[in-house]
Amino acid sequence: MAKKSAAKSPITSSLSDADRDITGKALQATLVDLIDLHLVAKQAHWNVVGRFFRDVHLQLDELVTAARDFADNVAERTAALGVTPDGRARTVADGSGLGSFESGWRQDEQVVEAITANLGEIVRRLRARIDELDKTDLVSQDLLIGIASKFEEAHWMWQAQLAKSS
Ligand SMILES: [Fe+2]
Repeated sequence: MAKKSAAKSPITSSLSDADRDITGKALQATLVDLIDLHLVAKQAHWNVVGRFFRDVHLQLDELVTAARDFADNVAERTAALGVTPDGRARTVADGSGLGSFESGWRQDEQVVEAITANLGEIVRRLRARIDELDKTDLVSQDLLIGIASKFEEAHWMWQAQLAKSS
């Protein structure tokens, strides 16, 4: 009996197989981080307490929207290259590079610190992938550069809340 060959993707890519594989992995890793960031920001949105509740609560929902929209863009770019995006809860739990967020009520200042740390980490990971994609796919690299730019701006805005001018 003939051996069953590996299933071929029904979606073709303009990249070489090697470049598509490297790019697909970078996009998939980004997708997982973005879904986790969206979930962490919603968890914080529901559990924050303190003097600055309202500002932090509302700012968190802006981050949720950005993370969700970027996750969709990244997943669809992945599919456009012929690689299946995987956004399942288990995949996200196993693969996210973000720090964990404790359960229960969280003080506003602790939330700002945790979100700032998560944004710093996601930008660090995005920048490493941007370097990697320089050799495989400039179109996907451009997408990640746009996301990194938005999150560096968000990182500044979150950091500024706890910063002292002197
Ligand atoms: Fe809400």
